[in-house]
Amino acid sequence: MARFRNIVVLTGAGLSAESGLSTFRDPDGIWSKYDYQDVATAEGFRRNPLLVHDFYNARRRAHRGLRPNAAHVALARLEAEHGGVMIVTQNIDALHEAAGSRSLIHMHGELLKVLCTFCSHRMVWRDDLRVDTACPFCGLPGGMRPDVVWFGEMPYEMGRISALLAAADLLVSIGTSGNVYPAAGFVAEAAANGAHTVELNLEPSEGASLFNEAHYGRATEIVPAFVGRILGDR
Ligand code: APR
Repeated sequence: MARFRNIVVLTGAGLSAESGLSTFRDPDGIWSKYDYQDVATAEGFRRNPLLVHDFYNARRRAHRGLRPNAAHVALARLEAEHGGVMIVTQNIDALHEAAGSRSLIHMHGELLKVLCTFCSHRMVWRDDLRVDTACPFCGLPGGMRPDVVWFGEMPYEMGRISALLAAADLLVSIGTSGNVYPAAGFVAEAAANGAHTVELNLEPSEGASLFNEAHYGRATEIVPAFVGRILGDR
């Protein structure tokens, strides 16, 4: 009999690090190369849409060569073999899907989707986006943006996430520094609802003291080991 019924897994950039994607706040991270106010705010997009499109076009191109790593695969195995698992990811990459995960919420949006701000259509988009790209639905140029939640914008599916945290008896936080809310508040929310809380990270996060249990190391090592324990591997 599985020990847990409803498992919520929160993932961050550290989960995709070993697939070759830079994290944000590690020493050589993305925010050491770009000012987030220029490339990850609506104000920055208004000020210089070309810079923002270049930033996401480069990440979309880089994504083509990426493969999920053993940590993504272990989480897909947990979902398939345990049931009752929901991944809430802060990541905008599509590596959870590539590993086979299906129960997945992208609370910060998706790199491979774009949104037309004129007609509100969302669509899968793997190519470059330009300032004058016309929307395939409404035909108007000049309204297309990455379907990514920028700083100051409301993350997606927060109502559903709160309901999941209320019902969770296990919260596992993987590869996130615990710097950005509301995701950084999930551990306290789950704990308040009686969940067992676990941190799996390279090093203690900002919220480390809030977790019941923690294992530190590279995600491709500690995540498969943790999933094996949950599934009762011998
Ligand atoms: N294995 C496990 N953890 C790792 C690894 C690894 N190989 N490499 C790095 N980490 C850990 C780091 O120690 C750090 O705690 O992953 C965490 C990455 O933290 P951040 O770079 O802050 O990324 P994240 O927490 O996902 O950022 C949250 O901030 O910029 C916004 O919207 C963006 O979704 C992002 C949000």
